[in-house]
Amino acid sequence: MWAGKKKHIAIFEQNLSNYQNSSLTDDNNTLSNDAIHKATAVIDQKTYHFDLDSKKSILDYALAQNVPIPFSCKNGICGKCKMLCVSGHTFTSNSKAISAEEQKNGYLLSCQTFTDIQDIKIKSIS
Ligand code: FES
Repeated sequence: MWAGKKKHIAIFEQNLSNYQNSSLTDDNNTLSNDAIHKATAVIDQKTYHFDLDSKKSILDYALAQNVPIPFSCKNGICGKCKMLCVSGHTFTSNSKAISAEEQKNGYLLSCQTFTDIQDIKIKSIS
């Protein structure tokens, strides 16, 4: 059945390390992966403060610090963790559950979103 036909195998890998390393410098202008950023999340009109760095998603950090961001799949598919970025800058690696237009307007999937060099403020949209 495959005789004479070429098989094509594609492997896609998300690599955030170059992006993360290129953005983070300390006072000596050397690369650092340990930069700590402050996040403020407003969820159901309650305000939570927690720390972030560029190694894990916003959702993973929030859950580890008992911030109740709703979630389900943690794979960028269900959209349950969608939030609005009020201030700061983020990088979303997988955004199947939000449109390009929503991203342009500041919406993010916290399970697929990382910080870069700034503190951020996000809020729930429900
Ligand atoms: S938890 Fe499903 S898209 Fe984030």
